This record gives sequence, C-alpha cells and structure tokens, in this order.
Amino acid sequence: MTQKTALITGAARGIGLATTRRFLADGWTVAMIDRDGGALFAAADALQGVHPVLADVSIPDQVRGLVEDTLTTFGRIDAVVNNAGVADFGPVEDTSFDRWRRVMETNLDGVFLVTQAATAALRSSRGAIVNIASISGLRASTLRVAYGTSKAAVIQLTLQQAVELGEYGIRANCVAPGPVRTKLAMAVHSPEIIAAYHDAIPLNRYGSEDEIAEVIHFLCSPRASYVTGQTIAVDGGFEATGIGLPALRS
Ligand SMILES: NC(=O)c1ccc[n+]([C@@H]2O[C@H](COP(=O)([O-])OP(=O)(O)OC[C@H]3O[C@@H](n4cnc5c(N)ncnc54)[C@H](O)[C@@H]3O)[C@@H](O)[C@H]2O)c1
Repeated sequence: MTQKTALITGAARGIGLATTRRFLADGWTVAMIDRDGGALFAAADALQGVHPVLADVSIPDQVRGLVEDTLTTFGRIDAVVNNAGVADFGPVEDTSFDRWRRVMETNLDGVFLVTQAATAALRSSRGAIVNIASISGLRASTLRVAYGTSKAAVIQLTLQQAVELGEYGIRANCVAPGPVRTKLAMAVHSPEIIAAYHDAIPLNRYGSEDEIAEVIHFLCSPRASYVTGQTIAVDGGFEATGIGLPALRS
C-alpha cells in the first residue's frame, strides 16, 4: 500500500496536533506546519512519521517553501488540512484595519495560498482538502466582525475549490468546529462565555480536539470519496438550534 502524506497547518498544538495524531494512527506521514517553532519542534519530537516545517501560511514565499519541503521529504501530498487560525474578538468600531488584516491574513489568505501551492501535488494524488472554518462562519455573533467574516469566507472558498478542482479528482470540504478548549479559544472565552456555550449547545459541553480530528480524517479518507463541497459543523448541535432563546429552554 502507498504511504500517504498529509500536510497539516497549525499542527503544533490544539486541533492541528490532534489531527496529526489521527492521521499517524492510520499509517499516514504528516508534514506539520506552524510558525511557532518552540511548540512545533517540541510536539514533533514526541512523534514518529512527521516532518516539522517552520513557516507562516500568510507569507507567499514561505508557503511555496513549505510545499517544496514537504514534497522533498515525502514525495507526495494526499491531503491538505488548512487548520492554522487566529482569533481576535472585538467590536466593529474598535477593530482597527491592522487587527482585521492580522485575522484575514492567516484565516483566509493562508487557506488560499497553501491550497494553491499544493494543487499540482493534489492533482497527482487525486487528493483531498479540508479547510477549518468555525460555527462563527455559519452564524453571526457580536465581537466577531473579523473572525466570523474570515470563517464565512473560508466556507465560500471551499465551495470554489470543490467546484473548480473536482475535475482533477480533488475533493474540498470544510469542518466548522464548535468551541474546543484550546489555547486559541481560552484566550477569548471568559468564564461567562464558557457557561453560556454550555447552556446553548444541545450536548451541553465543549467538543474535544479528537472529536474534530476524527471528522477531518474521515473527510480525507476513501470513506468520503463522493463527498465534496460540504461544510460539516462539529459543534454538539449548536448550528441546529435556531431559536435558542434561554427563556424557551427552561
Ligand atoms: N478552539 C475552538 O474553539 C475553535 C472553534 C472553531 C474553530 N476553530 C478553528 O480551529 C483551528 C485550530 O484552532 P485551535 O483552537 O487548535 O488553535 P490553537 O491556537 O491551539 O492552534 C493554532 C495553531 O496555528 C498556528 N498558527 C497560527 N497562525 C499561523 C500562521 N499564520 N502560520 C502558521 N501557523 C499559524 C499557531 O502557532 C498554533 O500552533 C483554527 O482555524 C480555529 O479558528 C477553533
């Protein structure tokens, strides 16, 4: 059997690291991409079958380099998981253009750049793309003018990729996680926000990194060979709650 390779961005911790472990457990090799060298090399040191690449997905030269590095090391790319992301919650009026760009350059530009740079390799392998959006890209909320808009754009970008790259046998899907207790989420979720999420989510809890990784891995596997252009919310039912008024739940 051919050894398959996944290229996973933001792999140093959180959902990206859990996804790396999930692919390794299935016998894949993984190019772990991250811009946080300390966390990246520490995580990679503890794993077998990985190649860590220090790079920023928002910088075109570095993106070209990380794809070349992956191909030099493993010779192929069967799946690209665009997971690197940053969160910045702020009101419309206080979100400076610099803050807006900081979110967009990783969350949106990075997904565009990495996928484009890896497309030739994905054509050769008839591979799969999974982009990580968020429930914040499916529903609006206060304080998410940049983050929510970036994630909604990732959902549309996934559709564009699925429609255009389908003729090469490349599938593109999106996973929209609900809240997961990672460093990213804990930086912006206050105790009040955590309690409100528990209350509003039908399963009454946060998700785990492994629960998100499982769906990402499925979408890259042959078990999903006829699935493309889809966004799957892995969110404990949050997306399903239309009229989620607290008064109607008690
Ligand atoms: N945790 C949640 O509640 C949650 C919910 C919905 C969506 N998401 C999304 O899941 C993805 C992973 O988030 P997480 O919670 O695991 O976050 P995290 O902060 O734990 O990990 C993100 C990783 O991405 C890396 N990264 C950030 N910008 C980068 C860049 N420009 N280039 C290279 N690496 C970069 C960071 O160094 C970090 O290692 C993100 O896209 C995030 O928006 C997370």
